[in-house]
Amino acid sequence: MANLLLGIDVGTSSTKCVLIDDEGRQVGVAENPYSFDTPNPGWVEQDPQSWWLAAIASIRQVLERSSADPSRVAGIGLTGQMHGLVLLDDAGLVLRPCILWNDQRSAPQCERLEGDLGRDRILSLTGNRLLPGFTAPKIAWVREHEPELWSRTRRILLPKDYLRYRLSGAFRTESSDASGMLLFDCEKRRWSAEMLGALGVTAEQLPECREGTDASVRLSSEAAALTGLPEGTPIAGGGGDQAAQAIGTGTVGEGTVSVTLGTSGVVFAASRSFRSTRDGSLHAFCHAVPDRWHLMGVMLSAAGSLSWFAESLALDAKRTALETHADLYEILCAEAASVPEGCDGVTFLPYLSGERTPHPDPHARGVFAGLSTRHRRPHLVRAVLEGVTFGLVDNLDLVRSAGVQVAEVRLTGGGARSPFWRQLCADAFGVPVLTVNAAAGAAFGAALIAGAATAVFTSVDDACARCVRETSRVEPSARRGSLDVPLDRYRSLYPALRPWFNSGA
Ligand code: XUL
Repeated sequence: MANLLLGIDVGTSSTKCVLIDDEGRQVGVAENPYSFDTPNPGWVEQDPQSWWLAAIASIRQVLERSSADPSRVAGIGLTGQMHGLVLLDDAGLVLRPCILWNDQRSAPQCERLEGDLGRDRILSLTGNRLLPGFTAPKIAWVREHEPELWSRTRRILLPKDYLRYRLSGAFRTESSDASGMLLFDCEKRRWSAEMLGALGVTAEQLPECREGTDASVRLSSEAAALTGLPEGTPIAGGGGDQAAQAIGTGTVGEGTVSVTLGTSGVVFAASRSFRSTRDGSLHAFCHAVPDRWHLMGVMLSAAGSLSWFAESLALDAKRTALETHADLYEILCAEAASVPEGCDGVTFLPYLSGERTPHPDPHARGVFAGLSTRHRRPHLVRAVLEGVTFGLVDNLDLVRSAGVQVAEVRLTGGGARSPFWRQLCADAFGVPVLTVNAAAGAAFGAALIAGAATAVFTSVDDACARCVRETSRVEPSARRGSLDVPLDRYRSLYPALRPWFNSGA
């Protein structure tokens, strides 16, 4: 009987489990939501226990719904939100809520660490520049503000690795997620002793780091009893959510590029050698495939900009969608299609939550510029779609300038469902845009990694070749030249407004 593979994604708003067969077909899926807390402006925290409870519930549900024989599960692959700081005491108990990837409190610690070590030194040790989202400055914050709690910290874990600990009792991580801690030498794929020293972290506090396809950890008897899976089921290293998501789209070979149009926007380029940008403008992380790396740019508000627009400026369209059982986003994209490229002079900057790439600026904000009395809502919707797409173009250009030839782009995330947005992307990127069958996102990629780790597939490349299928393809159209002027206008706006964003106005 064919093997089954289980992928588990410890996300920011839910934990999702997907069960697939060895052709990549989805046999079952289950998802359990939870919330996060914002105890202060810019702070985002979550209780690790909620991941554990959601994971057990999701595993049980996916087995029930698919009526699958649990003994057919050849392996489990873990993925999850990156960069989060989980601290455990001597007894393995959680010391404080996890500080999440989107928590901004550690900006002063970043400045101080950069001042002490120097931005160039940090870049040469890790391949990356420090950002408040990453784990290292969060550790510095805890040491400074919660010294008593820090003195009791025996273990430091990332979110998916906390789940691994609960499933197996093992303290392990893997190179792709470790990359986002900024304690890791991404080129050499090992902890950086100098970064550990600078942060006052000991090697014993960190989990052992292996590769995503390592399958030496096994499900414990306690976890087996709680989940319904057999004791001893192999648990693969897995990967950070971006690396796993990329594997789910087949983005593993040299120069393959994927773009995620989710709440945030991600441009991800895989490579066979370590590459980094001189100023750290792109994240230069290890892939969840051994001996592969990737460059990554992250926009904090991509399809999230369109959701914000829909919720705040399109209430009548929302009502129409409800009354006619139509899709709100299709209605909005049809409005956008009625307006020419460049929106008759309106430009939107999508920095609603500040920005990470290409402008690492927590103070940047969203902007509609160029409004006049002739403009109507369709101009604004199209401006939002163009602004987000131009932000992705900026990211792709950074990838190209790092020496990656972009031949085509694999598009995923909610925004990829819109044919209009796909065509806009193909025109703006200047390359074909394709979609694939990766509906379950990072959890699907994690299941593929589990298959490569347990010899269901011979490698991650083999997993992708057998399970990832193209579902649509859009070529750049003859109208692409009409985006040149609006793109130039978009690019000139952030430098003009930066002093104002940063003036505290
Ligand atoms: C990646 C990143 C997010 C989180 C949450 O660098 O910050 O994608 O992993 O999804």
